[in-house]
Amino acid sequence: MRPNPLRDPRDRRIPRLAGPCVLVLFGVTGDLATKKLLPAIYDLANRGLLPPGFSLVGFARRDWEDADFAQITHDAAKAHARTPFREEVWEQLREGIRFVQGEFADDGAFDHLARTVAQLDAERGTGGNYAFYLSVPPGAFPVVVRQLKRSGLSSPPEPAEGSSYQPWRRVVIEKPFGHDLASARELNSMLDAVFPPESVFRIDHYLGKETVQNLLALRFANTLFEPIWNRGYVDHVQITMAEDIGIGGRAGYYNNIGAARDVIQNHLVQLLALTAMEEPLSFAAESLRAEKEKVLAAVQIPDDISTGTARGQYAAGWQGGIPVRGYLEEEGIPLDSITETYAAMRLTIDSRRWAGVPFYLRTGKRLTTRMTEIAVIFQRAPHLPFDATDTQELGENALVIRVQPDEGVTLRFGSKVPGSAMEVRDVNMDFAYGESFTESSPEAYERLLLDVLIGDPPLFPRQEEVELSWTILDPIEDFWANHDKPEQYPAGTSGPLSSDELLARDGRAWRRL
Ligand code: BG6
Repeated sequence: MRPNPLRDPRDRRIPRLAGPCVLVLFGVTGDLATKKLLPAIYDLANRGLLPPGFSLVGFARRDWEDADFAQITHDAAKAHARTPFREEVWEQLREGIRFVQGEFADDGAFDHLARTVAQLDAERGTGGNYAFYLSVPPGAFPVVVRQLKRSGLSSPPEPAEGSSYQPWRRVVIEKPFGHDLASARELNSMLDAVFPPESVFRIDHYLGKETVQNLLALRFANTLFEPIWNRGYVDHVQITMAEDIGIGGRAGYYNNIGAARDVIQNHLVQLLALTAMEEPLSFAAESLRAEKEKVLAAVQIPDDISTGTARGQYAAGWQGGIPVRGYLEEEGIPLDSITETYAAMRLTIDSRRWAGVPFYLRTGKRLTTRMTEIAVIFQRAPHLPFDATDTQELGENALVIRVQPDEGVTLRFGSKVPGSAMEVRDVNMDFAYGESFTESSPEAYERLLLDVLIGDPPLFPRQEEVELSWTILDPIEDFWANHDKPEQYPAGTSGPLSSDELLARDGRAWRRL
């Protein structure tokens, strides 16, 4: 076998390779498929992590042949893959690409799909192992899942006589997992009726990000932070996911969802859980999920939602020197829409470790910049044996986990300014991925797709976590639905004033975006 140029020969870690399987992708024409999923499949193939017989079946309404879908996959990989394009990798991948044309309601199309995967098993040794990736609007989940059951695709055959080999079936769904607790439960019981819980992989792509997994290393591989990771030292935590983009072409999806359901219910609540949870017994799915669920169950929303949360909607403004439209002028958005494009809230955690420490979460579109970070802000020193003027420029100590785009960790603390006076000023100590590691980080979808194909569940939230997140968000959404409109903020700014006021009332301020 030829050596894989992308594998570092010094890398002695045991490679995690996917076994033989077919990945069936519903929603191949969507943005997610072309920008993330298809490039990630190519990257996995390029890194030698997919078996030679790996096969990919696209299912869509388009009147395409296998070659057309292969071309789409090729173009998506060329345009968006992380690793360099290599013709020989592509040629091998292409041999396993098939396309099935049809509507979700069409029994015949699903029977055709069943024949196609069976044929791949016979021709390419994929062993009856199928992963179904539902990259489709949530409204289409029930019909697709019903069809998978009806056509027999969801049930693996019994092991052959005398053999212990049991083929697997897995289903992958993307957030949002419902739009409130009731609909999340409904979605789950629909899935439950067809797939056992361990076969359902819920994707929250933030959990696939290297920097998010690094939170576990930072907290649990070091001794440095644990003694101060509690209410005795931490003043508050700020979790921010800011985007400079607007809603793009996603009006239909976004206007029914809004910023809090789109980002806080999943990505930010997961970041909060990883920041605040206790040390799990191991990183096995059961232990990790148990700790996350424990901390999520202890989360409290503000007593007064009107002052403990804020929301906004972007108005026309300037982004990077270019004039941009307001949310209400976006194509497909009704003029009277009250959907928020910015949301912020103060949460607390009723536990010995965190009692009284606010966790402030904020997310928004069309803000000054694109940036996701978790900032743990420490209390000020109880006593400063300096002249007051010497510490005028001393802020709070902070540990900032920079999730993206400038991945790394910053520790901010006070330091003496060189000179004869004892002046103390904030300085930063910095860890940057780009400087410390030679290998680049895999894309979140590379990691998550590989985990699905291997059947490794720790990075996928289970239903209990989803329900706990909705339990946090539902009362806030209900309150918002019955109170006023979101406050307008000009595009290209740091969000609505009410969000600054939310922190100011607590004597604090957001970190600058
Ligand atoms: C998605 C949201 O989950 O995350 C989008 O639906 C958002 O609205 C996207 O733009 C951001 O992802 P990332 O990885 O670029 O931070």
